[in-house]
Amino acid sequence: MPDPLLVRAARLEQVERTPVWYMRQAGRSLPEYRAIRAQHDLFAICRQPELCAEVTLQPVHRHGVDAAVIYSDIVLPVTGMGVSVNLVEGVGPVVDAPLRTAGDLRRLRPLHPQEALPWVLDSIRLVRAALEPERAVVGFVGGPFTVAGYLIEGGPSRAFAETKRCMYAEPRFWHGLMERLTAAFEAYAVAQVGAGADLIQVFDSWVGVLSAADYHEFVAPYSARILDAVVAPTIHFATGATHLLTELRAAGGDVLGLDWRVPLGQGWQAVGHDRGVQGNLEPALLLGPFARVAREADRILADAGRRPGHIFNLGHGVLPATDPDVLGLLREHVHERTASR
Ligand code: CP3
Repeated sequence: MPDPLLVRAARLEQVERTPVWYMRQAGRSLPEYRAIRAQHDLFAICRQPELCAEVTLQPVHRHGVDAAVIYSDIVLPVTGMGVSVNLVEGVGPVVDAPLRTAGDLRRLRPLHPQEALPWVLDSIRLVRAALEPERAVVGFVGGPFTVAGYLIEGGPSRAFAETKRCMYAEPRFWHGLMERLTAAFEAYAVAQVGAGADLIQVFDSWVGVLSAADYHEFVAPYSARILDAVVAPTIHFATGATHLLTELRAAGGDVLGLDWRVPLGQGWQAVGHDRGVQGNLEPALLLGPFARVAREADRILADAGRRPGHIFNLGHGVLPATDPDVLGLLREHVHERTASR
């Protein structure tokens, strides 16, 4: 049995068609998700493997995408380290007691995924068993900067001023925190692969707020350790990070995730053609006429130029207002345009 299409594309093999999946494909754009979500909160869904597997598979059944991304959240593992986090509707993760001093690190326990998050691993096993072999199971961890940002700011932030202050002014705290998150995410990513995840995506969504020099000094060594620890193919994703592509590449990832701001051809040039790229259709385009979506998808595919190593995705997550039928049409469009080459 050949490996899943997405795995072969991530290894830069020549594939029969460009694989397609969508970040945040499981979630509020789907009425069948909202029906379940009306009864259970996000973490409660995650703690019930049958329910979690169902939500994970909903977009695969509906859109025909080439991968299932495990329904979870990047802040979930820190709940297994003793930190209390709530996901607030329309806001994002909110931390009851933010971490800001070296003393606060005592509140952060090491993560033992099998003991603390066994239901995530059970969900992965269920999804892997239910899915056709040609489709991939994507597991994920947050990037250490993005998760540290939530823990320090206490919630979403634009400027990450407190996070940067800690980086510059509290080096013992900063490196202690990054060390603990790195050890935890390494173990968690490795456990996900052990349970059946075919690829791991590292979502360092907000790291684009850093300069290249600061990324290099304060984040790259930690992200590199996580990406290195994973034997399965990895996707390294950030947004607003076109200025960091060389640094992100150096930190690792078989595939670099591009956001919608950079033309795919230009982004791939910066990454280097010896790595794959994922992306990068502007998610808000899906709220407009499909003719425009198709035109932009064609431009992205022309930029990819039939080079091996392109995974089609949006440039960031699916917006909740997206008509789910459009996601299926777009998947079909990309498959048709790239089939049997
Ligand atoms: O389909 C998938 O991609 C898998 C599920 C997934 C979720 N969160 C579920 C979720 C994934 C991969 C994430 C990752 C995540 N979480 C990231 C990285 C990806 C990105 O978008 O940059 C980030 C930054 C978070 C933090 C977070 N959690 C935010 C910003 C929000 C949205 C808040 C809101 O209400 O708008 C969440 C909550 C969340 N995580 C939802 C979902 C489906 C929405 C709330 C819900 O349905 O309960």
